[in-house]
Amino acid sequence: VFTENPLPFHHWLLADAGRTLAYRNAISQIVQNNDVVVDIGAGTGILSFFACLAGARKVYAIERSSALQLARELCTHNGFTRTVEFRQDRSQNVKLPEPVDVIISDTGASCGLQGGMLGNLLDARQRFLKPGGRIIPRSIQLIVAPVELDDGRNLDVWEKNRYGLDLSSLRRFAANTNYLLNLKPGDVLSSPASLATIHFEEVSGPYVAGEALSVAARDGVMHGLGGWMQADLAPGISFTNSPLSPTIQWAQSFFPIERPVELRAGDCIHVNMRTNNGVEWRWQVEVTNRSVSGESPSRITTRFDQSTMWDFPVAPEQLKKQLPSYMPKLSRKGEAELYLLGVLDGRRTTSDLAAELLEHFGDCFPSNASASKFVIEVIARCA
Ligand SMILES: C[S@@+](CC[C@H](N)C(=O)[O-])C[C@H]1O[C@@H](n2cnc3c(N)ncnc32)[C@H](O)[C@@H]1O
Repeated sequence: VFTENPLPFHHWLLADAGRTLAYRNAISQIVQNNDVVVDIGAGTGILSFFACLAGARKVYAIERSSALQLARELCTHNGFTRTVEFRQDRSQNVKLPEPVDVIISDTGASCGLQGGMLGNLLDARQRFLKPGGRIIPRSIQLIVAPVELDDGRNLDVWEKNRYGLDLSSLRRFAANTNYLLNLKPGDVLSSPASLATIHFEEVSGPYVAGEALSVAARDGVMHGLGGWMQADLAPGISFTNSPLSPTIQWAQSFFPIERPVELRAGDCIHVNMRTNNGVEWRWQVEVTNRSVSGESPSRITTRFDQSTMWDFPVAPEQLKKQLPSYMPKLSRKGEAELYLLGVLDGRRTTSDLAAELLEHFGDCFPSNASASKFVIEVIARCA
C-alpha cells in the first residue's frame, strides 16, 4: 500500500534501446542451449526472458523490490513460467538449488559501481557460478575527466550571501558529496582518462582504487570531476554513458572539488580515487597549472582530498549507536512494535490491532490513521 511504484523507473530503463538491445545481443551470444542462468536484480525480468529466448533450461530471477510483480506478470504473458523461477529478496540472501552456467546483471549506475554491482557479482560468482561459468557484463571501466559546470550545478549555491542568508556552512558537506548529474559534452575540459577496469570473472574484492592523468584541452574553470563508465557485455558488445558519445541514457557522476580552479589548456589534473563497492568514495585531485599572472614557467599545484565519509552532518547520537560498546534500550516506538508482534495471533483484524495499539501507546500515535499505517508496515515486514 505504501511502497513506491517501480514501474516508471523500469519504463525508463526499457525505453533505453541502446542498453536493452546490447544486453539482448550479449545474452543471445553467451547463453547456450540448456544453460542454467541467474539474473541478479531482475526488475521486470527482461534479461531473464532474453535468456529464455537464447535457450536457457532454467532461469532464476532475483529481485529485491516489488518490481518482481511486474516480472511475474510479463512472464505469464510471454509463456515462460516453466523456465523462470522467481525469488523476491536481496541476492545475497538467496540460496539456489543448483549451480549456474551464466550470471546476468544490470545493477550498475552512473560511474559504474553506485548500484552495488561489484558486491552483487562477487557474491553471486562465489556462491552460484559453476567453475568456468560466464558473467554478463564481463567488465566495467571507470572513466573520469575534469568538468566545468554552470551556476545551477556547481557548488556556488552554498555561498555567504544567498537570498539574504549565509548558506556557506554546508559547502564542506556539498564538496564531499557524489552527485548524479546529466553532463553535456561542453562541460568536459579534457580527454577522458581511464581510472580502473574491473573484470568480474577475476576481481577479488569490493575495494577499487585507480589513478588517472588528464591534460586540459581548453581553458576553463574546473569545478570537479565527471565520472562515467563503459561496460563490456560480451565480445564486441559494449555500452557507455560517456557524455561525449553516450550509447545509453544513464546520467553521470559529479565529484566536486572544494573550490573552483582556473585551468589553461595543457594544465595537468592527476586523480587518485578509491571506493568501497560504490558506497563510499574518496577522490584526491592534484591540479598543476602555470602561474596565471605571468609568462614565468613556475607551476602551482593545488590539492584536494575529499570523501563521501564527510558528506552529511551526522548527529553524534547516531554515531554513538554504531559503537560496539553501545548498549541499546528499546524506544517507546520499539516497545509498541514489540507489543504488536506479540499479539499477531491470527485472531485480530488490522483495525483491531490499530485500536489496541492506540489504547496502549496513544503517546506514540497522534491519530488512528497513524496507528493503522504503523500496523500495516509491521505486517508487511513480519506477518
Ligand atoms: C537497473 S535495474 C535493472 C532491471 C532489469 N534487470 C533490466 O535490465 O531492466 C536494477 C534492479 O536490480 C535490483 N537490485 C539491485 N541490487 C540487488 C540485489 N542485490 N538483489 C536483488 N535485486 C537487486 C534493483 O531493485 C533494481 O530493480
